Amino acid sequence: CGIVGIVSEHAVASRLVEGLRRLEYRGYDSAGIATVLDGKVHRRRAVGKLRALEDVLEKEPLAGHTGIGHTRWATHGRPTVSNAHPHGSEKVAVVHNGIIENFSELKEDLVAKGVSFESETDTEVVARLIEWELSRLEDPQAAFSSALKALEGAFALGVIFASQPQTLYCARRGSPLAIGRGEGEMYIGSDALALAPFTRRVTYLEEGDWAVLGLSGAVIYSAGGTRVERKETLSDASAALVGKGRHRHFMAKEIEEQAEVVSHALATYLLPAEGKIELPEGGIDFSKVSRLTISACGTAFYAGLIAKYWLESWARLPVEIDIASELRYRDVPYQKGDSALFISQSGETADTLAAMRHAKASGVKVGAILNVVESSMARDADAIYPIKAGPEIGVASTKAFTCQLATLACIAIAAGRQRGHLTEADEKRLVHELLKIPRLMADVSSKERDLEQLALDLVPASDVIYLGRGVSFPLALEGALKLKEISYIHAEGYAAGELKHGPIALIDEHVPVVVIAPDDQHFEKTVSNMHEVIARGGKCILLSTSEGLEKARADDELLGSFAMPSVEPMLAPLVYAVPIQLLAYYTAVHKGTDVDQPRNLAKSVTVE
Ligand code: G6P
Repeated sequence: CGIVGIVSEHAVASRLVEGLRRLEYRGYDSAGIATVLDGKVHRRRAVGKLRALEDVLEKEPLAGHTGIGHTRWATHGRPTVSNAHPHGSEKVAVVHNGIIENFSELKEDLVAKGVSFESETDTEVVARLIEWELSRLEDPQAAFSSALKALEGAFALGVIFASQPQTLYCARRGSPLAIGRGEGEMYIGSDALALAPFTRRVTYLEEGDWAVLGLSGAVIYSAGGTRVERKETLSDASAALVGKGRHRHFMAKEIEEQAEVVSHALATYLLPAEGKIELPEGGIDFSKVSRLTISACGTAFYAGLIAKYWLESWARLPVEIDIASELRYRDVPYQKGDSALFISQSGETADTLAAMRHAKASGVKVGAILNVVESSMARDADAIYPIKAGPEIGVASTKAFTCQLATLACIAIAAGRQRGHLTEADEKRLVHELLKIPRLMADVSSKERDLEQLALDLVPASDVIYLGRGVSFPLALEGALKLKEISYIHAEGYAAGELKHGPIALIDEHVPVVVIAPDDQHFEKTVSNMHEVIARGGKCILLSTSEGLEKARADDELLGSFAMPSVEPMLAPLVYAVPIQLLAYYTAVHKGTDVDQPRNLAKSVTVE
């Protein structure tokens, strides 16, 4: 979910919507705004994307100089108007991101006191609680701070009161929140991106902070209620709304620009002339690490899984990897010599953030591989490795994935050097191979029409299987994830060797199998697994080099194939990611699904 708020002497409705547009990536199940006008709080809400709220506002405009807005990714309660934020009454309105863990206890308590509820959300409990406190204490600030004390969970809040037309309250506990300073007006937002159209002067609230904003500034209090000062920074987030250019979807644009942004990621760590890699100062010293834990969610997790192969092979470093929602609750016996890497596009994913904080609290040095470097994870990590992908808008991650890979490859090679397992000559050779990657990616992108053709075979399928071995195995997982995310076709990725241990029972002529087989040491084995599928009537699409396609000698039996350029085998996932993404993209386009904002998903999941 995303939050924005403005205290001003001018109308705020359209600017709240503008802020929300930049937060839509956080969820688009419903949206709403509230303002204070003539001693009352007024609300407008709509189900679905921001466009629906704009339609409502066109019919029923909303005046008022102080207001809050919200775009929702449903947690408690279905995406309906009554469950849409802001919640509250004529006296108070609340927007909220995160989860109130003790909401049922609080609700029971309020119901027992005679308070009635109109929605199923945990947020309404916050609004009703503040109202109750207001009736008791009669002072908005006292009511807000007293309500905060009763709330448990990880959340961010924005609140307005009918009785205070030029005041805005906010709080941060677990979910990010930033305060922006303008000329005679102040703002709140879930991130600097939401504030970008209004100001670059941004103050991040720290854990437990809450604040009272007026026209000329903010007074910030720590969890204990003491006044605190928090540093103001100049944000780099660009005010320009990122456009789609000539593309129909952000996803298409982001797939195409991978060659460019991967070269930015590489340029951050490579010294091409010297054939060397240089990691940022103060980062993890891999020569002293005896075990590395990698953790992330979704696509970022698959990038980590590929990096495990690299770090083990190039740096001989034992790597443990787990999805963040598991790692954070596993009772990991962290030991001296442990370090941990967390990977996240947004830097805000609640599970990854919590896993990172847990590792840090256990005394482990933590590094964060991030796209958004003004994020919660950036602030908490001991070392940051930016991936330089630029804003990624499509909910299905594409360029962030390949930029994560480019960054991880650099880290793994540098680790190999630090640990003495790669020689200077090895480093030079790998740097040389890395430098070829952007060109190879662009090569594949330029053949997107062929991939569109291949995708037509996936459109009617209800199940698709992806196979790969070695570094291509995590890519098979990512391929399946991409396809299910945007086309809603059920898909699974398997290690090619595991196929015979169960999944092969699924094979029939209706289940297309995408085989990722770069010309590497696993090629023969992967191809023989492919033949096991063909022998059972399965229909395969083979991705390999032209030599590979020839060697596979299966042309007549294949559903289709795509010839890939040849690439250093360990780095193949960077280039093979492109056809995998384009297959999913064109399948979704031909199915007519919402490519950039697929149902039920959110780009950045800031709840557990
Ligand atoms: C969500 C997105 C995925 C993403 C994952 C992790 O589920 O839909 O595309 O991979 O979160 O996000 P992060 O920002 O931490 O990389």
